[in-house]
Amino acid sequence: MTQKVSIVGMGYVGLCTAVVFTKNGYKLVAVDENQERIDLVNNGISPFHEPDLEQLLQESINNDCLECTSDIDYAILNTDITFLTVGTPTNSDGSIDLKAIKKVATQIGETLAKKDGYHLVVVKSTVVPGTTENVVKPIIEKNSGKTCGPDFGLCMNPEFLSEGSAVEDAFKPYRVVIGEYDKKSGEILEDLYQEIYPESSENKVTIKRTTLPTAELIKYANNGFQATKISYINTIANVCQKIPNADVTAIADVMGLDPVISPKFLGAGIGYGGSCFPKDIRAFITFCKSLEYNPIMLKATHEVNEKQAYNVIEIAKRQLKNLKGKKFAILGLAFKPNTDDMRGARSTVIIKKLLEEGSIVTAYDPQAISNAKRDIGDKITYAPSAMECIKDCDCCILVTEWDEFQKLTAEDFMKQTKQPFLIDGRRTFKPQDFNSKIIFAAIGLGQKNNCGQ
Ligand code: UDX
Repeated sequence: MTQKVSIVGMGYVGLCTAVVFTKNGYKLVAVDENQERIDLVNNGISPFHEPDLEQLLQESINNDCLECTSDIDYAILNTDITFLTVGTPTNSDGSIDLKAIKKVATQIGETLAKKDGYHLVVVKSTVVPGTTENVVKPIIEKNSGKTCGPDFGLCMNPEFLSEGSAVEDAFKPYRVVIGEYDKKSGEILEDLYQEIYPESSENKVTIKRTTLPTAELIKYANNGFQATKISYINTIANVCQKIPNADVTAIADVMGLDPVISPKFLGAGIGYGGSCFPKDIRAFITFCKSLEYNPIMLKATHEVNEKQAYNVIEIAKRQLKNLKGKKFAILGLAFKPNTDDMRGARSTVIIKKLLEEGSIVTAYDPQAISNAKRDIGDKITYAPSAMECIKDCDCCILVTEWDEFQKLTAEDFMKQTKQPFLIDGRRTFKPQDFNSKIIFAAIGLGQKNNCGQ
């Protein structure tokens, strides 16, 4: 443990990165501006639901390896390397909002002005190409009076973790990307990662060193490709719905056998949500436009996704005709299973539309109800279980594919609902288990197998 590490921003990326360091014996200084979050972290409590995170946090606190503070000064003065993991949301015009990054860079600069010796600053937040060199570097230089290179180092180190498996992803990344301002900065960061993921261990990872803008662009290229894969399979799903007996899941299964394609991210459904894809694709499009390049393909990915959630509403309308006064059960609110995160969740798009149509909505989610209450409020009813949720409904829409929904049977729908009508928005159920018993419809399932289409 030659280097002391601090991390600014205790969101998913910051906290999951923090526990990787503490588990490897580092004493880490964590920084956040939210006092409630600081208190939670210092008590070993995870501010959000993420498998295994709380246990590792607890361990870090018990072993005296982690302290969380709002004092950036303290963090910079007492460590050698600082990771920036603050949020980079989107502005209303789709461009990236760098307020948090700029604020932290200013504070780091002010502290470096009074610090002797070299310090490495690592941008881990997702930022559009050019940000690290043209925004972060000049802010630190201006506020510290020091020069990047001789006085302090600068890297861009994108994070690829996925919520729900964030801890696992942080401990076993497929790759580590180091964008470096100069060789010295890159070497220090590579040495740090070599200690965490040693060549000899099963956690050995491929480390790629490159330029700052290339590292920044890798993250957008990666997310853009994954999101495009989802919009592509959703396009195939929408075609399937117009062809009797066609089924997108069978198509995706076969496509996935092709090693060029791979089976991942071929899950058709109501589209992608979350804190990354929607905002990153928009920021990437806006960034391309700023380069006077028209990113037709990314725009199509975004457009397909914007429309995809309404697919289930159209199916409901074909069966029920008028949705006014109809009772809907929404199974799943989180943007994906194993998280309580509602950011960009498709559930909110579907619920908003149903409410506009005058429908009555009851929803259930194993983890996300308290976050949903904050976002959606009391315009809908929240049920304590899936069975309670579907009670007396005219239509049930499966929105998030939590494992526990797999237990629901056709008989449950026949017993509990006003009329047994299930729309599978995530292709989680086997059509043959429901088809002959209840009205069953699903995204990407063609006419004759799919009600009223
Ligand atoms: C994503 C990327 O996976 C990760 O590499 C990046 O660092 C951050 O963004 P995350 O947003 O946590 O991670 O979740 P992910 O599992 O990728 O799912 C995003 C959305 O796509 C979810 O709404 C999910 O339901 C949807 N999705 C995913 C599909 O609709 N179909 C699929 O086949 C896969």
